[in-house]
Amino acid sequence: MILENYIISLQKQDKITTIKREISKHLEIAGVLKTLEPTPVLFERVKESEFRVAGNLFCNKKQIADYFGIRAEEIIPTLTRAIENKSPPEQTDKGACQEVIEDTVDLDKLPILFHNEIDGGPYISSGVVVSADPEYGQNLDFHRAMQIGKDKMVTRVVRGRDFYNFLKRNGEVDVAFCIGNTPEVLIAAATSVDTGIDELEIANALRGIKVTKAKTVDLMIPADTEFVLEGRVFLEETHSEGPFIDLTETVDVIRQEPVFELKRITHRKTAIWQGLLPGRSEHKILMGMPREPTIFKKVKDRGIDVLDVYITPGGASWLHVAIKIKKKNEDDGIQTLEAAFAGHKSAKHIWVYDEDIDIYSDEEREWAMATRFQADDDLLIKDRETGSSLDPSAEAGTNLTTKCGFDCTKVLETKGKSFDKAKFPEVDMKKFLGE
Ligand SMILES: Cc1cc2nc3c(=O)[nH]c(=O)nc-3n(C[C@H](O)[C@H](O)[C@H](O)COP(=O)(O)O)c2cc1C
Repeated sequence: MILENYIISLQKQDKITTIKREISKHLEIAGVLKTLEPTPVLFERVKESEFRVAGNLFCNKKQIADYFGIRAEEIIPTLTRAIENKSPPEQTDKGACQEVIEDTVDLDKLPILFHNEIDGGPYISSGVVVSADPEYGQNLDFHRAMQIGKDKMVTRVVRGRDFYNFLKRNGEVDVAFCIGNTPEVLIAAATSVDTGIDELEIANALRGIKVTKAKTVDLMIPADTEFVLEGRVFLEETHSEGPFIDLTETVDVIRQEPVFELKRITHRKTAIWQGLLPGRSEHKILMGMPREPTIFKKVKDRGIDVLDVYITPGGASWLHVAIKIKKKNEDDGIQTLEAAFAGHKSAKHIWVYDEDIDIYSDEEREWAMATRFQADDDLLIKDRETGSSLDPSAEAGTNLTTKCGFDCTKVLETKGKSFDKAKFPEVDMKKFLGE
């Protein structure tokens, strides 16, 4: 879907705040997005650019579920089905993203946001990167990119990611940074599936998309994306990247990262730039949510009746996982924890709950832990395993960390007090209010 059309539909439903006064891409837009989060915002007059900017569009599961017209609990099954039934998108030679082909490449004309005082420069943080390898074909993922010139950026490429492996195999790789996408493309880009799977096929299974050929590189790109920055990334040509805020909302270190040289910029006629606050809820949901189906499947494959998985925002939407099961055997809780750690190697703490607990409620999760958990029986400790590179408390250099699982399910046979919350009577208030 064209992002602008979605924004228009939000305007019709009065679900987006429009800022009509002039605003700077330097700190001010990020400040407003942070203040109004999770309300979507459209900035109509950006001081330094002719283009409009939108942000906070998909900050939580509810906003994403609304986009697809489903309930939040249906997201995991929907995403699972899309991964299992991926299908090639229709091709078009009239991509909306190529309505305008800029004659020159000048990144200064774009509203690339400078988010925080500490940042090393203006950053693209919502860029979905299409790349390809002669053997594996196309890949989609996210890479933040810091502007270092009118036609040059430096992009953060985490070691081990598909794109990094493409760079290692080929030295230099053609790319298309696509900015301004709706959730089918954003979520597909954030999934971690087997190398060789073109995530655009997952996007297409989530909601039909079209693809079109990029102008200067041999890549098929989402036709409806708002802006496309085509060019080449070089493994050996590096530049300092950062500082920038990472997923944990802490400041990432400065590293030498690959340079991205731009060849062409194309965009829709009325293109809207997509802002995404680093480390905040939209970044978190896009990072954590696509990992939930993988965990769900691992737990299900152990024969557990798993009902839902939630990678919680408080745990940086990466390090903490809450799982709801229908417990049938006494060791289902511990088995769930083992399977979930196998399904998400970056997880540091995982909790498993019974079906009566609302895993989206911090208070209910804490209540279940307070009333159903005993450390001598229900604790799983995984001493010094490789964890997430994002965790500041993991051992520097090795990322070794101690992982911990908490079985917060009740025992099947109650010996003492009941584990259930006492229910108060339900009354019809109309009977008692008024004269
Ligand atoms: C908003 C967002 C920003 C991200 N930024 C980066 C980044 O700058 N560098 C990086 O290597 N991975 C980044 N990631 C993570 C990868 O895109 C993600 O793990 C990827 O889907 C893994 O893909 P792969 O299995 O195809 O390698 C980001 C993810 C999200 C959701």
